[in-house]
Amino acid sequence: MSIAVQCRGVWKTFGTGPTAVTALQDINLAVEDGEFVTLVGSSGCGKSTLLRTIAGIESHNAGEIIVGGVPIRGPGVDRAMVFQNYSLYPWLTVVENIKFTRQLAAHTRDCTSSDVEVAAGRADALLGVMGLTSVAHSYPNQLSGGMQQRVAIARAMMSRPRILLMDEPFGALDAQTREVMHDLILHVSQLESCTVIFVTHDVEEAIYLGQRVVLMAPRPGRVDTVYPVPLTRERSQAMKHHSAFLELKVAILDRIRSTSGMKTDLELLQKLSRTAAQR
Ligand SMILES: Nc1ncnc2c1ncn2[C@@H]1O[C@H](COP(=O)(O)OP(=O)(O)O)[C@@H](O)[C@H]1O
Ligand SMILES: [Mg+2]
Repeated sequence: MSIAVQCRGVWKTFGTGPTAVTALQDINLAVEDGEFVTLVGSSGCGKSTLLRTIAGIESHNAGEIIVGGVPIRGPGVDRAMVFQNYSLYPWLTVVENIKFTRQLAAHTRDCTSSDVEVAAGRADALLGVMGLTSVAHSYPNQLSGGMQQRVAIARAMMSRPRILLMDEPFGALDAQTREVMHDLILHVSQLESCTVIFVTHDVEEAIYLGQRVVLMAPRPGRVDTVYPVPLTRERSQAMKHHSAFLELKVAILDRIRSTSGMKTDLELLQKLSRTAAQR
């Protein structure tokens, strides 16, 4: 198996002097071709910074990020990103949104009619896979959040990226829609042989989707523990009740609590009631 993304000693600091924040400290991580890796950790531990750095939209101060054997120098068509807010163009229909990057390229480069046909065929295929065919000519504000996020994913897949970088993409969706989206993204990423790095703060989501869960810790942002997920690649919702799933969930939640430096609500409540009783 070859390596799709390799972070070697990656550092990222925001600001200078005493207020400087080390968002990434010596990150070493290799993601295999076709692997689905999830990143979890308490707020501010550098998940988004790591993803943006791999995307090339954030620079790093030291180390190397190697994609397809070559150190990255910025964004590239081999990597696509999906954010929590759907970031669609409200004045374009669903199919226009999906084709938009391709259309821009058509205006800036010489583009043959066969290129346009290939793009149209690709867009149609993605509409089908993502269950969007019936809303192809609707506008984003006519769609539910889940449907809008399907459009955003289809648009990201349009240029056949080798690597899909997803930053809490389902964070704004309700629980039932998220379950549907989980099975959809697993299906689509396998169909497209895509490597996925997926950020979430939801441990259950991280285990359900990931072949490995990478736990990051804050201040400074670093990789704390990498957990292989002891489940088959084919997932089903029933697996969430398997003992291996639940044990891993408890272990990761415990570790997040101890690395976050924050007391749990329960611990705080117990402390408060003890203090009140002593008065
Ligand atoms: N553009 C920025 N300028 C200054 N500090 C930033 C910037 N982006 C992120 N940070 C800081 O870097 C740390 C990691 O942030 P982030 O990657 O957003 O964490 P996460 O996604 O895990 O919540 C935080 O302390 C955050 O405040
Ligand atoms: Mg974030």
